Amino acid sequence: MQKKTLSDIALQGKRVLMRVDFNVPLDESKNITDDKRIVEALPSIKKILESGGRLILMSHLGRPKGKRNPDFSLAPAAERLSRLLDCPVTMADDCIGTEVMQQVLALQDGEVIMLENLRFHPEEEANDPDFARELASLGEIYVNDAFGTAHRAHASTEGITRYVPTAVAGYLIEKELKYLGKALQEPERPFVAILGGSKISGKIDVLENLFNKVDTVLVGGAMIFTFFRAQGLATGNSLVEDNKLELAVSLIEQAAQKNIRLLLPVDVVVAGEISDRAESHTVSVDAIPEGMIGVDIGPATRELYRKEITGARTVLWNGPMGVFEIDRFAEGTFAIADALSEATATGATTIIGGGDSAAAVAKAGLAGKMTHISTGGGASLEFLEGKALPGIVALND
Ligand code: 3PG
Repeated sequence: MQKKTLSDIALQGKRVLMRVDFNVPLDESKNITDDKRIVEALPSIKKILESGGRLILMSHLGRPKGKRNPDFSLAPAAERLSRLLDCPVTMADDCIGTEVMQQVLALQDGEVIMLENLRFHPEEEANDPDFARELASLGEIYVNDAFGTAHRAHASTEGITRYVPTAVAGYLIEKELKYLGKALQEPERPFVAILGGSKISGKIDVLENLFNKVDTVLVGGAMIFTFFRAQGLATGNSLVEDNKLELAVSLIEQAAQKNIRLLLPVDVVVAGEISDRAESHTVSVDAIPEGMIGVDIGPATRELYRKEITGARTVLWNGPMGVFEIDRFAEGTFAIADALSEATATGATTIIGGGDSAAAVAKAGLAGKMTHISTGGGASLEFLEGKALPGIVALND
């Protein structure tokens, strides 16, 4: 996709309205627990401010369901941004209205204001044209750098582009498209994809799209049990999607027809319950005991997958290998993160498709050892499914 970017336009003295995705996790005291999405927006923010632009930032945070709710205020994000930039960031009380317009018109070159949560207005998610027009009136140039929200056709991501003279991509969107796009279009081979997560149903489209691109797929997470059941193996009390058994068989057949190596685990860790006190042990996949739940890939699988990953030139990972939120069942997921860091060190391109796998890499302390970690959860998944992202499609070619 050839889209205009921030580098293609003059910013000096202009009111630049930029959609970012500052939908960051907060703890109970409203402290940001992971500021990656803010940090990743800094190149665009700095470019605008250093070029003498007057920056108006807008974002959503969480799902406040169209109502004003202080729990979902963007004030903590504005504060964090102010610290990262080491300059004041004014926090507006709303994202539209006379007062906001006055604040925006009072901005000087190189100053920045953060608007309040767009989703306090139901019109945002409804992609309401009047709301989009009102947002658009705040700026002279529109920039979208919210990759994490690019799969949503909302007023601030899609509708707004009809009411602005210029709509360009920010540097984060440009970077995400560079890495995710290159992996899908011209990957260096061997190209290995690792897919995890609990359900096949959430990953069918990704799998089918990747079958046209990759050499090998390594499967982990609870979705393996649907494959095993489809092959007639006992799966104990593990999560199985009974209505997806035929699909699992068809995916195995499709992979064979397309000469894709689809690898499933050879051993798994099983536990009596999903808790950090549960007794657990490793079994071969054809010996899962009755009543036990599969919670992680086993050591033989970790080694098997490690060899595949370290032998690849492009590796794409989406979805954890087990219940990684519980430390004892995170070893398989961490082993994969470790193998990816080894691959990066030998010059392979390693890409983490956001969401849970990005959280797992961060938890493993290996975030700095990957080529690219996407800031999109749903957005990167839809991109990997081969779908067009409305927030990007709408930008100027
Ligand atoms: C995300 O966290 O995936 C994005 O910010 C989009 O949020 P949403 O799923 O609530 O639209």
